Amino acid sequence: MKPFVKWAGGKTKLLNGIEQRLPVGFDEWKDVTYVEPFVGGGAVLFHMLSKHQNIKHAIINDINQMLMKAYSLIQQNPDAIVDGFRFLVSEFNKLSSDSSREDFYYRTRKLYNSLPIHDEQRILFFLFLNKTCFNGLYRENQDGNFNVPFGRYQSISFDEKNIFEVHKALQSVLILCGDFDNVFRFIKEGNNFIYIDPPYRPVGKNMNMFTQYDRSGFKDNDQQRLKDLCNIFGKKGCKIMISNSDSYIDDETSYFEQLYEGYLIDRIQVTRTINTYNAKELRPKEVIITNYETPIIHQPKLF
Ligand SMILES: C[S@@+](CC[C@H](N)C(=O)[O-])C[C@H]1O[C@@H](n2cnc3c(N)ncnc32)[C@H](O)[C@@H]1O
Repeated sequence: MKPFVKWAGGKTKLLNGIEQRLPVGFDEWKDVTYVEPFVGGGAVLFHMLSKHQNIKHAIINDINQMLMKAYSLIQQNPDAIVDGFRFLVSEFNKLSSDSSREDFYYRTRKLYNSLPIHDEQRILFFLFLNKTCFNGLYRENQDGNFNVPFGRYQSISFDEKNIFEVHKALQSVLILCGDFDNVFRFIKEGNNFIYIDPPYRPVGKNMNMFTQYDRSGFKDNDQQRLKDLCNIFGKKGCKIMISNSDSYIDDETSYFEQLYEGYLIDRIQVTRTINTYNAKELRPKEVIITNYETPIIHQPKLF
């Protein structure tokens, strides 16, 4: 089972690092609730649901409305997705020139933007645009219209089997849409594991990283709000893991070490699709913050 969308900040490449840093004895926990307030494409969600059978419930959330509508439709009516999407994919793949494919893309984008948000057809177009737009980005203009250009694909594929697997996995999942603080109200007593993957904080003032997922943006006061919630829910016994870019306030001061003082901070080297770093030594690191001891033996800081 894998994500059914391409998503900026997707964590497929971080799965091993996350798995190695789960709480000691995680698989012996009973009746676990897995919570992901910034689920995006769900790389970690699908990994956790397929790998850890003791997860009996999950709560997922994202601020992106169309994304969460797609999760809900797959949960309730996967046939609607599969039938409609099969048709769109076959129509696109029949086209024989770059210009006809480009035209098809922009006509679909226009149609998508003209449909009301609650129209089921819009979800299909959302998935189609995600497959065919540049890098699977989701970006809207000031008027709320999706405006990502065509990704110049010659043909696209569609994994129907995966949609049905996702459908099955989503049966025990509560799907929410909104700001992350909404999610915490749904957390009950018990064995809760919360994985938090908010938008990346820019790495440093001279590094021009892609961080804009939503028109509202995600600012330092949002990082602070999130940390305050982590403190509250950590005290209630939730085990929490947070990932982000290894961001610095100045040459010496790590933003997340300062914000999450008292938590455990670890670093993993990653490659990201959307970044401006090519040289290996300039590749960004991801910070992994936990409110519990991880099984990984900690390396000394590299810098
Ligand atoms: C780094 S991405 C998560 C990627 C995800 N872990 C994956 O593997 O695809 C961050 C997500 O946070 C969402 N987001 C941005 N602001 C938010 C907010 N205030 N509340 C909830 N979600 C938000 C974005 O829509 C985006 O999907």
